[in-house]
Amino acid sequence: MAGTFITFEGIDGSGKSTQMRLLSGFLRMNACDVVLTREPGGTPLGLRLRAVLLDAQVVPDLTLLFDIGVAESTGRTTRRSTARNKRDRLDTEDSEFHARVREAYLSIAAAEPGRVKVIDTSGAVEETHERVKEIVVPFLQSRGHCLAGARS
Ligand SMILES: Nc1ncnc2c1ncn2[C@@H]1O[C@H](COP(=O)(O)OP(=O)(O)O)[C@@H](O)[C@H]1O
Ligand SMILES: [Mg+2]
Repeated sequence: MAGTFITFEGIDGSGKSTQMRLLSGFLRMNACDVVLTREPGGTPLGLRLRAVLLDAQVVPDLTLLFDIGVAESTGRTTRRSTARNKRDRLDTEDSEFHARVREAYLSIAAAEPGRVKVIDTSGAVEETHERVKEIVVPFLQSRGHCLAGARS
């Protein structure tokens, strides 16, 4: 069976890492094979993945755009930095930059509404996880993947 390629997009602090972890756990619990990668190129697997994707001229099958206000995302990453006692370069970039990136993401989503699904991530972690499953589970089922009896 061919694989399905799902990407998580969104500004820093929008919850991508948190939700990837939760979704991959859920899918594995439902007997789905999941390969997690960060940005292609970040790891040896990522490099191979990128090569495969470029060969296939790839576009992701499904993209989840995690949308959140810049002030809120900055609040989250600031807490994260403090917790780790270090700062990412991206964490310190100005909010205007994040606002422009957010707008760019939203225009891509508007241009490709079939492939790119916008998810409001301003709520609690579990709330966002439910929204992610509501989109991903039927999508995987429609492609004949795992989750035959699973409920989102
Ligand atoms: N729904 C949420 N509510 C509050 N804090 C959150 C939520 N989702 C994630 N966080 C916290 O916000 C920070 C950024 O989340 P993370 O998943 O690392 O985002 P990203 O990978 O998009 O930068 C982390 O410290 C995480 O624990
Ligand atoms: Mg992350």
